[in-house]
Amino acid sequence: MTIEETTVTFTELTADLENPGPDWRRTAVVYQIYPRSFADSNGDGIGDLPGITRRLPALAELGVDAIWLSPFYKSPQADAGYDVADYRDVDPVFGTLADFDAMLQRAHGLGLKVIVDLVSNHSSDEHEWFQAALAAGPGSRERERYIFREGRGENGELPPNNWESCFRGPAWTRTTNPDGTPGQWYLHLFDTKQPDWNWENPEVRAEFLDVLRFWLDRGVDGFRVDVAHSLIKAPGLPDQAPADQAAQDAETDGFFLTGPMWDQDRVHEVYRDWRALLDTYSPDRILCAEAWVPSLDRLARYVRDDEMHQAFNFGYLESEWDAAHLRATIDKSIAANETVGAPTTWVLSNHDVVRHVSRLGLPAGPRPNGIRAEDVQPDHELGLRRARAATLLMLSLPGSAYVYQGEELGLPDHTSLDDDLRQDPTWWRSQYTEAGRDGCRVPLPWEADEPGLGFGPGGATWLPQPAAYAELARDRQHEVEGSTLEMYRTALAFRRAFALAVGTVGWVESAPGVLQFTNGELTVAANTGTESVPMPEGELLMSSVPLTDHGTLPADTTVWLLTEVFNESQS
Ligand code: NOJ
Ligand code: CA
Repeated sequence: MTIEETTVTFTELTADLENPGPDWRRTAVVYQIYPRSFADSNGDGIGDLPGITRRLPALAELGVDAIWLSPFYKSPQADAGYDVADYRDVDPVFGTLADFDAMLQRAHGLGLKVIVDLVSNHSSDEHEWFQAALAAGPGSRERERYIFREGRGENGELPPNNWESCFRGPAWTRTTNPDGTPGQWYLHLFDTKQPDWNWENPEVRAEFLDVLRFWLDRGVDGFRVDVAHSLIKAPGLPDQAPADQAAQDAETDGFFLTGPMWDQDRVHEVYRDWRALLDTYSPDRILCAEAWVPSLDRLARYVRDDEMHQAFNFGYLESEWDAAHLRATIDKSIAANETVGAPTTWVLSNHDVVRHVSRLGLPAGPRPNGIRAEDVQPDHELGLRRARAATLLMLSLPGSAYVYQGEELGLPDHTSLDDDLRQDPTWWRSQYTEAGRDGCRVPLPWEADEPGLGFGPGGATWLPQPAAYAELARDRQHEVEGSTLEMYRTALAFRRAFALAVGTVGWVESAPGVLQFTNGELTVAANTGTESVPMPEGELLMSSVPLTDHGTLPADTTVWLLTEVFNESQS
């Protein structure tokens, strides 16, 4: 059989698909939409819900199963919407509840599930309950909904403990009493404008169950749960021990790994309650945890039978482009999840990290929190090549996978953004030492020749697009052989056709630097080394870069080979 004969059309491939039913989340490819940067409908330069609705057919065509939307709720946007002032309404910048319903209906009409973000660790300081807490004063029922404490020191002038905000600086802010005197302090693991909820309070738990009901009743298919590991804090809010501080300092992404505010065992009570509620709707509504926990074993606890359905595998995101390291992470991930009967949820990029095209183009070393013009710049060509190889590897693995908007176009970060334009609070909270996450949040390029690269009418974009985005615009790649977009589309179609998401990884020993395994009828090989190696046996189905010599697997390349067909043709 020749390669040409194995090339079937997408319609043929998708026509035979069975409806996976409640198990959809075990195999789903979920596309993350960052609403402010996906598509703008009204020309204000900020993406919105009608913009998403209009562009949904492009995602159906790409072949993803679901979309996850970062927050679009009413918010002063102190942390790009992860500071929610009203959990039951849409922020006017993104549209209205009616726009949401229209978007949901359109998505469902196209066969796409819809997951929304649930920001349950903290609200906005402009939430009516926080304003009521400030007004009501110490000891009130209103203050019990958040985490208020007296300060330490002679006059309460020191924060209640030594915790630091993930966005840098202290995790406590002091209030001012109505008479102008300094008052209690409140906890915020993130920005000052994001006070932490008190999850020990049954009123807070009841409120969130009601918020879940609100969106479930509207028809959403699930929730991505923001900082799912932080809702419960250690009793007494003890200081963070120096060892934890060291672990935190070793991290450059701003998310602590261990400490009295993270991954407390009792947080699982909350998810059991939520799961019980979801199950009263239908077995196909899902919860996905965003939990930066120290180990894959700890992560697996979030996807136990009666808890969430998915948890992002950040261990995989953080893996180096190195065969041994990747293999160890893949093995550990699958083994840890098997102990609880859950699939893994692979991910390479999101709105909080440097896009994998840029990340993999940097010299080896710690993962930076944003890249500035004066920093070492990524090698774009190398980064794109590796990113495509890393993606093809990810999409060949069993389980679910998340794709961040724009990665299907091979977008890099904006790595020379004007510092004055930065909006991530990390930038000023770190005293202008950490760029933060704006570089991965730039408006998408749709049409190369339109103003603003087709992001919205009139060409306004809330952050400028780097020059490199024009050539990467969707219309420059659509149906263009060898483009990154076509690689994603083909990979998603083959992933379905060959049922890779429900397969198993069977390692094959290979050259150093090469990762090789079978999954069903396919052999997958990824060369993370610097030298070409002989191509493994099999019929080449697809490759992360166009290949002229089918006998060689070049460096930084992943291939999918049809093993069964090869064996048959040999016999
Ligand atoms: C994780 C979100 O992904 C990030 O964008 C946000 O800043 C923090 N949680 C706080 O909500
Ligand atoms: Ca808009």
